[in-house]
Amino acid sequence: MTKRPVKAKEEVGTTGHSWDGIEELNNPLPRWWLWTFYACIVWAILYTIAYPAWPGLTKATPGLLGHSTRADVAAEIQRFEDANAPIEAKLVAADLNAISADPELANFTQNAGGAIFRTWCAQCHGSGAAGAEGYPNLLDNDWLWGGSVEDIHLTITHGIRNIEDDDARYSEMPRFGADELLEPAQIDAVVQYVMAISGQEHDAALSAEGETVFIDNCASCHMEDGTGDRAQGAPNLTDAIWLYGGDVASLTETVNNSRFGVMPNWSTRLSEAEIRAVASYVHGLGGGE
Ligand code: HEC
Ligand code: HEC
Repeated sequence: MTKRPVKAKEEVGTTGHSWDGIEELNNPLPRWWLWTFYACIVWAILYTIAYPAWPGLTKATPGLLGHSTRADVAAEIQRFEDANAPIEAKLVAADLNAISADPELANFTQNAGGAIFRTWCAQCHGSGAAGAEGYPNLLDNDWLWGGSVEDIHLTITHGIRNIEDDDARYSEMPRFGADELLEPAQIDAVVQYVMAISGQEHDAALSAEGETVFIDNCASCHMEDGTGDRAQGAPNLTDAIWLYGGDVASLTETVNNSRFGVMPNWSTRLSEAEIRAVASYVHGLGGGE
């Protein structure tokens, strides 16, 4: 740019402002600056005509170009749904047990099922599916309700102990302490018996007393040997895997007040293809039967 000749103060005049003797001259703005400024104003006006801009009571002016980020997202989602439609149809038609043997389906359930798991299941079961207190680990081969693909599929579809689905898996351990079904001394004894059958340090005399309490009150669900019953979601008490804790305090709490783990039913939130994908994914995590 050519340097403009500096004009004398007398030619341009001053704004009348002066600080410590330094006067502000009234030079005009540079041409290029002014034109850029006008161009910006014109551009802004045209932009608000072409694109959604002015807010109204219920929605903004749509703009002449019909641009909509919402529609873009919807189109993008539709594109993926269309692309997945054939494989989803194949997945729904497949025999549940045959999914993992079909490379195309196995690959799809691994990816789509993993994404569904991280979106809908990780809050409770953990992003790595290792669970937390009250929320079962889905990586091990210790299953409350069964670890075949069919069992897992049923659990996910209907959920557990929820009131929304009549076909939800259901069972209820009695509240032995709270409802006074057992004396506190009997509860202490049966807790020691559970400590014994799970291979933990225990009071031998109390545990011997507890065995009778167990056979009379607990074996109907947890079985005489304490290994549990999947038909009732009654956990195996002889392994070192605990849903609610295997120390004396946790066991006493469980027997006193019982537990009531609830899992939502997913049939109303996920499609059959999505449920199959995530069931197959969970089955493939390592503990599937
Ligand atoms: C709101 C918490 C919650 C969410 C979300 C949740 N679950 Fe569960 N899930 C549970 C609880 C609690 C149990 C154990 C219930 C019981 O005590 O029997 C369970 C049990 C299970 C079981 C049975 C495990 C066994 O040992 O038999 C499977 C399988 C399962 N969930 C899969 C899933 C999948 C897949 C999703 C996502 C689509 C999911 N869960 C989302 C809470 C949840
Ligand atoms: C009607 C069936 C039923 C009876 C009877 C029953 N339980 Fe249970 N028990 C269950 C169910 C179902 C669960 C799982 C509850 C859940 O996941 O919310 C459970 C859970 C437990 C747990 C928790 C296990 C863990 O992994 O944290 C313990 C401990 C237990 N029961 C001990 C007993 C003892 C001791 C008795 C007898 C005094 C007994 N139960 C009687 C059904 C029963």
